[in-house]
Amino acid sequence: MNITITRNPNPATPPTDNFGFGTTFTPHMFVMDYNEGQWHDPRIVAYGPISLDPAAKVLHYGQEIFEGMKAYKSGADGSVHMFRPDRNIARFNRSCERMCMPKIDPDLFMQALNQLIDLDRAWVPQSPNALYIRPTMISTQVGLGVKASTDYIFFIIIGPVGSYFKGGINPLKLKVEEKYVRSAPGGTGSAKTGGNYAASLLPIQLAQAEGYDNIIWLDAVEKKYVEEMGAMNIMFVYEDKVVTAPAVDTILHGVTRASVGALLGDFGIEWVEEHPAIAQIIKDAHSGKLKEVFACGTAAVVTPVGVIHYQGADHTIADGKEGPLTSKLRNALTGIHAGGSDLHPEWVFKVPEQG
Ligand SMILES: Cc1ncc(COP(=O)(O)O)c(C=O)c1O
Repeated sequence: MNITITRNPNPATPPTDNFGFGTTFTPHMFVMDYNEGQWHDPRIVAYGPISLDPAAKVLHYGQEIFEGMKAYKSGADGSVHMFRPDRNIARFNRSCERMCMPKIDPDLFMQALNQLIDLDRAWVPQSPNALYIRPTMISTQVGLGVKASTDYIFFIIIGPVGSYFKGGINPLKLKVEEKYVRSAPGGTGSAKTGGNYAASLLPIQLAQAEGYDNIIWLDAVEKKYVEEMGAMNIMFVYEDKVVTAPAVDTILHGVTRASVGALLGDFGIEWVEEHPAIAQIIKDAHSGKLKEVFACGTAAVVTPVGVIHYQGADHTIADGKEGPLTSKLRNALTGIHAGGSDLHPEWVFKVPEQG
């Protein structure tokens, strides 16, 4: 399909500093409509509000999905590249399946990303700052019947974001959430849908009021096994292996998680995808068997965990500081983001200059 471009007549000037996260957007966005069983009218237009009928299904039943990915400007030649967008596109289409929404042709998705980012390439900051990319699909059919919508809008908005590590490496203080759960087997945990995040707001807010950065989710059935962090996957480093929850239907299958798994393979370290039992984790933290804990995701890449609160007490991981494997993995990934790394060139998708 041909993507039409209508340029913003009054584009703003890109900021040069203080990017923050998710508050500044570029002058353009990609939009496409779905009705009568097909996608049509793919277009790049000026960034701006979307008009919705108050009875649009998304506003009532939350039939909505999104993705979060990044593009970086490389120090070497100033070119712009996305990190593993093929993975995010595939996950978006898996979310479509679970949420009863129409898929997007991956080639068209990639074309939309390339053309939108190319048009606003002046807004891509130098790595380790990045361009955050937020593809989103919402259901727009008017009517309060609880069933899958017949109409949808797919849009992509983009904007510069600051590096998570601007203030240095600060190991996270996490609280194991023992009351609320994020997802249950058969639920929507592996779909990137807004409701999962709405449900997480209260427990995260409560933990933050107690002084923790975020929470660790346990499985919904036995509340014994670690699933993931607030909005990151989490891994436990032992002398001879790294353990993380398997990519089942209760966790989000992180692109960073998969990338860390591949890097561990490159480094000759065993990566074990088995449900880590929280009681054992705490025991191993005290005995010294547990060497490091880190969380990983698009926002924070790989970030150390210094303290885990469980059953009324804080438990420090090793010396509470970032461990060597955490920093090695973070440096490997940020090196790939910055461009010019020899590791996994197939993860880097250069945005072609179309003029
Ligand atoms: C619930 C949840 N888990 C894990 C992740 C990490 O996924 P990724 O590495 O693809 O950003 C995210 C980030 O989007 C998330 O929201």
